[in-house]
Amino acid sequence: MGKRKTAQECVVFVCAGDSCSDRKSRKLYKRLVEGIEKRKLSGSVRCVRTDCMGRCEDGPNVIVCPGAIAVCGAKPKSADELLDGLLKSGVAPDSSEL
Ligand code: FES
Repeated sequence: MGKRKTAQECVVFVCAGDSCSDRKSRKLYKRLVEGIEKRKLSGSVRCVRTDCMGRCEDGPNVIVCPGAIAVCGAKPKSADELLDGLLKSGVAPDSSEL
């Protein structure tokens, strides 16, 4: 039997394709993981690296589920704001706010 999902479970997908990696998506991923641990959210928020999402020109790209909310042009320094936005409203902030 697999692990049951909670209603609040959230997954933050971070593109680790070549173009997004060149724009520091690996550092963004690391900061998101650190932020999740710092906020003790490991039970409800996961961060996962993905292959290219097909929108390289907009990267680094992040998709937050549920909702499949796309955050384009996310920067490592905006990891805390992204997580805080998720906590506050349950949705990722618009990338123009980061
Ligand atoms: S490398 Fe990230 S969208 Fe293509």
